[in-house]
Amino acid sequence: MEETDLVHVLEIEKLSFPNPWREMTFMGEMYNKPISFSFVIVHKSQRKIIGYIIFWYIKNRAQINNIAIHPDFRRMGIAETVIRQTLDQVRVAGAEYVTLEVRPSNMAARFLYNKLGFDVLATKENYYNDPREDALVMGIYLG
Ligand SMILES: CC(C)(COP(=O)(O)OP(=O)(O)OC[C@H]1O[C@@H](n2cnc3c(N)ncnc32)[C@H](O)[C@@H]1OP(=O)(O)O)[C@@H](O)C(=O)NCCC(=O)NCCS
Repeated sequence: MEETDLVHVLEIEKLSFPNPWREMTFMGEMYNKPISFSFVIVHKSQRKIIGYIIFWYIKNRAQINNIAIHPDFRRMGIAETVIRQTLDQVRVAGAEYVTLEVRPSNMAARFLYNKLGFDVLATKENYYNDPREDALVMGIYLG
């Protein structure tokens, strides 16, 4: 992900979340090196950005902080492929655990993470705003 990608990333972000990240948050991730890794997903023939993933990798742990696919390109296996690639990458780098947070109401994401082998580890009460909701902490052991 580069600064010139942000106009497309922000458009997808607004279409994907009730309380979208702002430009400054994406910038903060892009420049939080070497902890944060931000990638855009580019459609091969249409040559446009159709999604992105942002994750942290620190020693033996990784955390997926954001993933979204443009609504026109959902249910095509893109997020599943990208997360599988990410799990492989961080496993090779030395990660043993990968965690993430998800709204309990976000059934698409929960089905996706279940399919990939993530389990619910904990709940963070009143974690999200607009609308207020708990967060489920999900994790997968790669060891
Ligand atoms: C969640 C999201 C990233 C999934 O992306 P996607 O590319 O459409 O997902 P995939 O096509 O790779 O789906 C893989 C699996 O996830 C599950 N899944 C994905 N979307 C689903 C939906 N709408 N309903 C039920 N299951 C769904 C299914 O198990 C699916 O496998 P299947 O197609 O063999 O049944 C996408 O819906 C999105 O961008 N949502 C808004 C942003 C968001 O919620 N991000 C996650 C925040 S924690």
